[in-house]
Amino acid sequence: MTHFAYRDGVLHAEDVPLPAIAEAVGTPFYCYSAATVRERFRAFADPLADRDHLIAYAAKANSNLAVLHLLGREGSGLDIVSRGELERGRRAGIPAGRMVFSGVGKRRDELEVALDAGVLTINVESAGELEALDAVARARGQRAPVSLRVNPDVDPETHPYIATGLRTTKFGVPIGGARDLYARAGSLEGIEVVGLDCHIGSQLTSVAPFLEALTRMQALMEELRADGHAIRHLDLGGGLGIDYGQGDPPRPGGLVSALRDGLAGWQGTLILEPGRAVVGEAGVFVTEVLYIKDQPDKRFLVVDGAMNDFLRPALYGAEQPIRPVREGSGSDWQEVDVVGPICESGDFLARQRRLPPFSTGDRMAVMAAGAYGATMASNYNSRPRAPEVLVSGDRFQVVRRRETVDELMAGESLPGEDWFG
Ligand code: LLP
Repeated sequence: MTHFAYRDGVLHAEDVPLPAIAEAVGTPFYCYSAATVRERFRAFADPLADRDHLIAYAAKANSNLAVLHLLGREGSGLDIVSRGELERGRRAGIPAGRMVFSGVGKRRDELEVALDAGVLTINVESAGELEALDAVARARGQRAPVSLRVNPDVDPETHPYIATGLRTTKFGVPIGGARDLYARAGSLEGIEVVGLDCHIGSQLTSVAPFLEALTRMQALMEELRADGHAIRHLDLGGGLGIDYGQGDPPRPGGLVSALRDGLAGWQGTLILEPGRAVVGEAGVFVTEVLYIKDQPDKRFLVVDGAMNDFLRPALYGAEQPIRPVREGSGSDWQEVDVVGPICESGDFLARQRRLPPFSTGDRMAVMAAGAYGATMASNYNSRPRAPEVLVSGDRFQVVRRRETVDELMAGESLPGEDWFG
């Protein structure tokens, strides 16, 4: 279940009515349910309780410190892809020893920081990165713990922008060349081979591609063991989809149990990197109707949230459920476009969507916005980023306040007078 439900016609996050939050912080805002976050994390962790495992939550889905802290207290590790995410994890109290460092383009300074911090493993994505990491580690008299991210060439059947496990994407090392690169890794003084990694894509709505990837990775793991590599962990990445109102994808418990059963004879550590499935349904994005604008062929609801706040509809054509914060009595549903104030026709939260009647000043919640919402926000059109609010029971806390207009320009400066002669 999620913890967003109507009580007396008012949408609540756990026991807190969303209008109470809107009155406290204004709109637009993000709101997260701590109970849903915990519940979803446990859905991954519980089926693995009796085997070695690490749930390395993918920070990119939602990297608010409070969310990371909640997860850290549950025993979560972190899948990080930048120095910034590493630092967030540390400040949230997640030990570096529970972090895996992924990403196709890690900079040298990021590799250094990761080695200093003592991350569990660096998921290396190319021969070039392997050599660079070896050099960095040797220069520091260290050995870098490494897994190669292998691209198993499995079709995840998802949006092309978020499919990563196909041969044609930029990610990972082709599975056919993995053994050779492991041999190279094994010969490098600055590298210690510790594991094997893959991640095939995001918003997967069936278990089959995961199982196919598992089969291929297991076969490779056997070969690598025969080659003499100590593969202590197998990381199968993230990618499980959530319910955006278009059908019910498999739940974490089903996926994890299938993976666990597939690995029954193997004693190593199973690592998973779920992001969306942990936090997606734990959040909503709330925005207010500014104007109702009737154009010749269309009705537009102009709201105060925009593509800079919530990019998924504009970038992927994502369709996420929209619900009124207060249920109205009117039954005349209408087809509308929900659009933001940004000067682009691509600035929409929904297009040609049948919604219940809304009036100026009414609020709506974009559901399942806890993942890839706030983390993909920008300041486009010089719009301060929206606040984030965490709810637990009948309490709420602003865990990121609204950005100010001054903060927007804090790092900028005017050229000196001497520039103008
Ligand atoms: N591990 C790696 C190496 C990844 O690249 C990703 C996501 C994950 C784990 C977590 O995947 P998840 O469990 O959240 O599906 N912005 C897009 C999603 C991009 C996902 C990128 N990688 C969206 O809004 O749909």
